[in-house]
Amino acid sequence: MDQNQAARRHGELCAALHRHNALYHIHDRPEISDADYDRLFLELLQLEKAWPELATPSSPSRRIGAPPLREFASIPHSLPMLSLENAITEKDLRDFDERIKRFLAIDDDITYACEPKMDGVAVELVYRDGLLQVGSTRGDGSRGEDITENLRTLASVPLRLAADAPPLLEVRGEVYMELTAFQKLNEERQEEGLSCFANPRNAAAGSLRQLDSSITARRPLQIFCYGIGLMEGTVPSGHRQLLEQLRHWGLRVNLEETRRARNIEEVLVFFEQLGARRERLPYEIDGMVIKVDSLALQRELGDKTRTPRWAVACKFPPRQATTLIEDILLQVGRTGAITPVAQLRPVEISGVTVSRASLHNWDEIDRLDVRIGDTVVVERAGDVIPDLVRVVVEQRNGTERVVPLPERCPVCAGPVSRLPEEVVPRCQNNSCPARLREGLKHFVSRRAMDIEGLGEKTLDQLLEKGLISNFSDLYRLTREQLLGCDRLAEKSTDKLLAAIAASRERPLARFLYALGIRHVGEHLAKVLAAQFGTLENLAEADHDQLLGLHEIGPQVATSVRDFFSNQANRKLLRELREVGVHPKSEQRRSGGPLTGTTFVFTGTLELFSRKEAQQRVERLGGRVSGSVSRKTDYLVAGAEAGSKLERARQLGVAVLTETEFQQLLERIDTHGQNQG
Ligand code: IVH
Repeated sequence: MDQNQAARRHGELCAALHRHNALYHIHDRPEISDADYDRLFLELLQLEKAWPELATPSSPSRRIGAPPLREFASIPHSLPMLSLENAITEKDLRDFDERIKRFLAIDDDITYACEPKMDGVAVELVYRDGLLQVGSTRGDGSRGEDITENLRTLASVPLRLAADAPPLLEVRGEVYMELTAFQKLNEERQEEGLSCFANPRNAAAGSLRQLDSSITARRPLQIFCYGIGLMEGTVPSGHRQLLEQLRHWGLRVNLEETRRARNIEEVLVFFEQLGARRERLPYEIDGMVIKVDSLALQRELGDKTRTPRWAVACKFPPRQATTLIEDILLQVGRTGAITPVAQLRPVEISGVTVSRASLHNWDEIDRLDVRIGDTVVVERAGDVIPDLVRVVVEQRNGTERVVPLPERCPVCAGPVSRLPEEVVPRCQNNSCPARLREGLKHFVSRRAMDIEGLGEKTLDQLLEKGLISNFSDLYRLTREQLLGCDRLAEKSTDKLLAAIAASRERPLARFLYALGIRHVGEHLAKVLAAQFGTLENLAEADHDQLLGLHEIGPQVATSVRDFFSNQANRKLLRELREVGVHPKSEQRRSGGPLTGTTFVFTGTLELFSRKEAQQRVERLGGRVSGSVSRKTDYLVAGAEAGSKLERARQLGVAVLTETEFQQLLERIDTHGQNQG
């Protein structure tokens, strides 16, 4: 290939990747499979390796991150990034409406745009001639930090806008992390012995403020754009039109949750409604932002020093409660990490009963000075498991007990050690029963080997009976052995056996993730699988070969090498192969739009028969389960729904009415047609 050909192919690849990226992340209607996308991406990387001059700042390859910076530069915003005044009471909101009418000297009702107040990090993106030029934080409002390279790594930040975008466009929005992604990140960090983020906002802020953008690239960040700074060209007439226009240019906006209120009364109704929906949204919001819809009126109203006159924020009450710490338990994770968890006297926080709080680690215990018997303030930060905010020291009576750092593993009494760079102590016994149990839970989990029907209770029984002592034993379980377990009847046993058998076919990436190699999360498992193709190739790869890969640093390379040179692990892999688990290529079976999504139906359905509903879901690649668990994505609740609905609410599972379910199917159908 000569340079001209390379440049031409590079242009094609960039155009295709930009387009598919927007279809997936902005418009929610992908046209190609993830695997096909990855192939195009890999081709682009290879091309840029051979012809480095092709790697321009707007190349999709920038999503991987750029060389680390020493510090962030400070850059001015051409228009200040303001903050919002808060309206706390209903009267505050009515006063806001009155003030606006008085200022504009009009009696008519004002139309407002109402949208969720995203709990994330405010950023500005500057596009010149359609290309992302600068991205910055809000900073003090007039100057922010230059985090362009970090923002480039977000898949929902377009590097290039649609061809009809104006020559200059400054867009403002909020970068955030979805709740499930946040929980997963924290779980991974806990396993790694790193400190956890207190809430999704801190996680987003911490991820954006990385001098090494390849770290940001691995964090699951998203953006919703909600406004503009300077813009050349014709500005739309209303806020909703503005959002539609931004979406058309390729920016991600939250039109679905934006409502237009014809007057302040409707604003109040929307605020109530949003409050009710809050628990079901996949991201954390802390209130509703109310904006005068007309951009002409916005301009007429103008700004005060720090806040605009045309907008106000209505915050939700904090989700806090006071309760008692009855005990502090020590949990041992699959890597041996020992983490303290507070057992609480059950208390209700905004409709959810909580009885546990994460304490994360001993640094956190020391910082908060938490003791057994303390009265504490807990807050739900988007998670069902709340965080401890503070101890009510005045309530102490002297009987409270501190929890010392353990000297022995609380489960196997094995030795414990704490590395200087880690925040948790670890059990050093590789065959600690708790580690085995957690390792098995991870191995069978949905994102790993995905063995449905093998829940914690069943695993515990199998362990107690001595039927399993490593992953390969799962594949040797017999029908008789399973039937001997409580809660496993004939039908569920056969289903479980089928699920175990089917898991032999999981692609290599999932298998690698399931093995629980330290520092190899889902993403790096995919990277390794794509590069090496087979387990054998990976097992033989030396340190340098691993280091030569994009995204693989010394820590991961060492961990992978350690894993495959460990005798016990080699034996385990041999045994797994003997029982028929030897995943090879990355060929994934083609899935439907609902692949990986689990539905549960409850109550009386009127629009569908149960069977019909189930078939619709399954035809789209989804799965229907009989009971609600953390793995459930949606509970569809018909009339007279009972305990399942209750449980879904407790677990924070999204609940759909039958009509909403029908709309979901319709939306998918329409997208399917769009794809031709
Ligand atoms: S508009 C001039 N809309 O709230 C007004 N802000 O307290 C600019 N925020 O710094 C803000 N969601 O980070 C607006 N839908 C939304 C928002 C939103 C979250 C944040 C933003 C801003 C802060 C103001």
